[in-house]
Amino acid sequence: LDNGELVKWNGQMDDVHSSISTTEEYKPTLLGSIPHMDEKTALDVLDSAVKAYDQGKGNWPTMRVKDRVACMQQFVEIMQTKRTEVVKLLMWEIGKTLPDSEKEFDRTVQYIHDTIEDYKQLDRDSAKFVKVDSINAHIRRGPLGVVLCLGPYNYPLNETFALLIPALMMGNTAVFKPAKHGVLLLSPLLEAFQKSFQAGVINVIYGRGREVAAPIMKTGKIDVLALIGNSTSAIALQDQHPYKSRLRLILGLEAKNPAIVLPGADLDLAIAECINGTLSYNGQRCTALKILYVHDEIKEEFNKRFAEKVDQLKFGQPWEEGVKLTPLPEPNKPAYIQELIDDATQKGAKVLNEKGGTTTPNYIYPAVLYPVDESMRVYQEEQFGPVIPIKPFKNIQEILDDMAKSDYGQQVSLFGKNINELSPLIDVLVNLVCRVNLNSSCQRGPDVLPFTGRKDSAVGTLSVHDALRSFSIRTFVASKDN
Ligand code: G3H
Repeated sequence: LDNGELVKWNGQMDDVHSSISTTEEYKPTLLGSIPHMDEKTALDVLDSAVKAYDQGKGNWPTMRVKDRVACMQQFVEIMQTKRTEVVKLLMWEIGKTLPDSEKEFDRTVQYIHDTIEDYKQLDRDSAKFVKVDSINAHIRRGPLGVVLCLGPYNYPLNETFALLIPALMMGNTAVFKPAKHGVLLLSPLLEAFQKSFQAGVINVIYGRGREVAAPIMKTGKIDVLALIGNSTSAIALQDQHPYKSRLRLILGLEAKNPAIVLPGADLDLAIAECINGTLSYNGQRCTALKILYVHDEIKEEFNKRFAEKVDQLKFGQPWEEGVKLTPLPEPNKPAYIQELIDDATQKGAKVLNEKGGTTTPNYIYPAVLYPVDESMRVYQEEQFGPVIPIKPFKNIQEILDDMAKSDYGQQVSLFGKNINELSPLIDVLVNLVCRVNLNSSCQRGPDVLPFTGRKDSAVGTLSVHDALRSFSIRTFVASKDN
């Protein structure tokens, strides 16, 4: 999609495969293909976004609020007619279960509706005048310019739109590059973009980051880099920009969210939440619990029951009933997880569950590793997949020290008996991360709550409410009493 036209691509195409196999002998399924764009094409696409932003009165950045809202409403209405198609592609492209795929779609629709409502409220609020001394100021929120937007494979619809929709709503124009996995599911929506927005407001590029996104950054014409993914890609792109200090960053990056299980915690609840927190979508969530700290007094019981529960989870195709574990979209992920398991076991950890580490070509069954320590890769790295390290502890200070040393600071889960008595600890935790979940696993939603992180976990905040502010700037018109 370039400058409002669905352009027919005559160049090289890249095949898109699903890691899901339907044959007895494993064979990835060919789903389709996408354009392999080159630098020149990417720069032409960028020009469309720049022109659409620079155009004068009445166009996207200066459009009346009610007209911009109408465009967004039209988009979400058309989008809703594509649910079946998009949900099917979510399952095939990224291996997300049917209930989770449906949830991702519906959550995104809700996100757009909420964004529209919040935008209208923002406009009502900014219709006020502020009088200071002899100055009358009419403060409003304006767009920032051209946004380069890159989405992640684990939420190719929801998190991508959590960047794109508020960026567009505030009057920015965008060049958007979908993730490698979850790229085809945007195709049913391209026509909806085309019908709902003016030419050049939203433009899509495909291809390798270094061939298409990096040259765009080099031009210096990007005002906002909005990316959900890993910090290596974010830093590499940021470094290409010739005027880095002018670039606004909105980033959702890595995390290593811990769960802390204290004596007296309801173990049934803690185990159920930790199963969900570590293994929902196979642990491929930035908000997943990536390390469990279990107190010495309860570690034996917790470990035994937790490991048994993990082995009861069913692996299968995303559309099968009762399936919790599904094929991993990244072909190299099973081998990477195996490396983490091997490293930990060589350094003294044990795999607590019988099925742990058993592999098929597109999966590795979650291994519960115990006891882990700082020397192990699974302690240091964000595994983003099905492997669960457990570290025992005697004193809460050990965990606070670990968290303070960590490069990440997104969320924590705390399981205990009388949570009210834990408020001094909660006060410390909330200064190490941005969300403390009491007796529940970590998560991003509901999307109206602030979603961000400290240190290397995030730059900017991405709730419905905050994102509209992140993608805009306060400006004002001043008049003086004479
Ligand atoms: O990958 C990070 C996502 O923001 C996780 O979102 O907690 O709703 O699954 P979620």
